[in-house]
Amino acid sequence: MDRSYQIAVLPGDGIGREVISEVRRVVVEAVSIVGNLDIYLHEFECGGEYYLRTGREWSEEAELFTKTKADAILLGGIGAKGPEGGTVRRPDGNLAGYSVVIGLRQELDLYANVRPVKLLEGVPTPLGFKKPGDIDMVIVRENTEGLYIPARGRISEPDREFAFDLRMITAKGSERIARHAFELAMQRNGAPSDGTRRVTCVDKSNLLAGCQLFRESFDKVGQNYHEVERDYAYVDAWTVLAIRKPEYYDVVVAPNAFGDIISDLGAAIQGGLGVAPSGNIGKKHAVFEPVHGSAPDIAGTGQANPIAGVLSAVMMFEWLSKKHDDPRLERCAGLIREAVEEVLRKGAVRTPDLCLGDWALVEPSTTQQVTSEVIRVMKR
Ligand code: NAD
Ligand code: IPM
Ligand code: MN
Repeated sequence: MDRSYQIAVLPGDGIGREVISEVRRVVVEAVSIVGNLDIYLHEFECGGEYYLRTGREWSEEAELFTKTKADAILLGGIGAKGPEGGTVRRPDGNLAGYSVVIGLRQELDLYANVRPVKLLEGVPTPLGFKKPGDIDMVIVRENTEGLYIPARGRISEPDREFAFDLRMITAKGSERIARHAFELAMQRNGAPSDGTRRVTCVDKSNLLAGCQLFRESFDKVGQNYHEVERDYAYVDAWTVLAIRKPEYYDVVVAPNAFGDIISDLGAAIQGGLGVAPSGNIGKKHAVFEPVHGSAPDIAGTGQANPIAGVLSAVMMFEWLSKKHDDPRLERCAGLIREAVEEVLRKGAVRTPDLCLGDWALVEPSTTQQVTSEVIRVMKR
């Protein structure tokens, strides 16, 4: 029980840095309240802005520590704008910071990108007729293959110009993500609408061969989970279904790129990117990060909502607690989660993205004021 935990902290770019410094404050406070717990935060610069300055996405030391020494990794948003206003890119065309945000998923084999979609009390949803309790699903995005394999390119010749991105979907990759989704469903209480444990496979198997394999693998794995209903939707139709009857969904599994897109939709219905956390989970390693990016449009204004980052830290504590069978970490998670829920429920302290609907007249608070309020509640 007296082991220590080493956390790699990678703030990234733009609001990534602003949010992660607040997440640190909350983590440090939770650890000190729970007490008798050695957690070390090792912070390293990384991302597009670091690349512009140094020509590297992160230092050798940062990379080595993150990949070989860290018990868990906490990441902010990656992505910088260059002097001409466009995304800063590496010579190979990938965004600067790719090694951190996508490279880690590939190299540490973080095959499950787990993105909870839960409408909390006090959070305005654009689905005005839905209430907390109606929206409580988890999107499980395949995270290592699909359209994200490094097989892309561009040909520019005088008389023809084209680009391609190959998508590869394997039986092994599809089966393991399906298993992750069904196992998750077994730990949950079912869909809000009817309490049925349900995993929905969201794909485009009416057209795409990769999606046909993905769905077959889903069925093969799902057959062994008798208590979980198997459900299916084509990804285009699902974007409508998720808005019309989000309460029907419990766990949703999708190939990589579709999972990327539908999880931003999920973020929207739970109150926006400012409140949407995620965990990139593998067998040994995990990276926790808000679903949002570096938000250059609000960077430096103090408007970034820190809650998505803070809830990602909650997911980190829960994962570490389970992995190391250490209830002290579960207490850190519970302490932070309860404080966030109370701050949202009370409603007076919130960033501008949440000052909508019933909360339109609330005077917006800054990133730091929100965190200070979370910490104040935790200390009580
Ligand atoms: P974004 O998520 O950064 O922002 C989208 C919109 O949501 C913006 O209007 C932004 O202001 C708002 N928003 C995001 N997070 C918020 C928060 N915490 N509080 C309040 N408002 C918030 O997506 P984008 O603008 O499409 O991309 C910006 C950069 O981030 C790009 O370089 C992109 O590649 C990168 N990106 C990185 C990640 C990641 O690191 N995992 C994820 C998404 C985008
Ligand atoms: C995400 C992001 C990344 C992705 C980008 C930054 C490459 O959108 O984490 O959802 O596409 O996975
Ligand atoms: Mn995304």
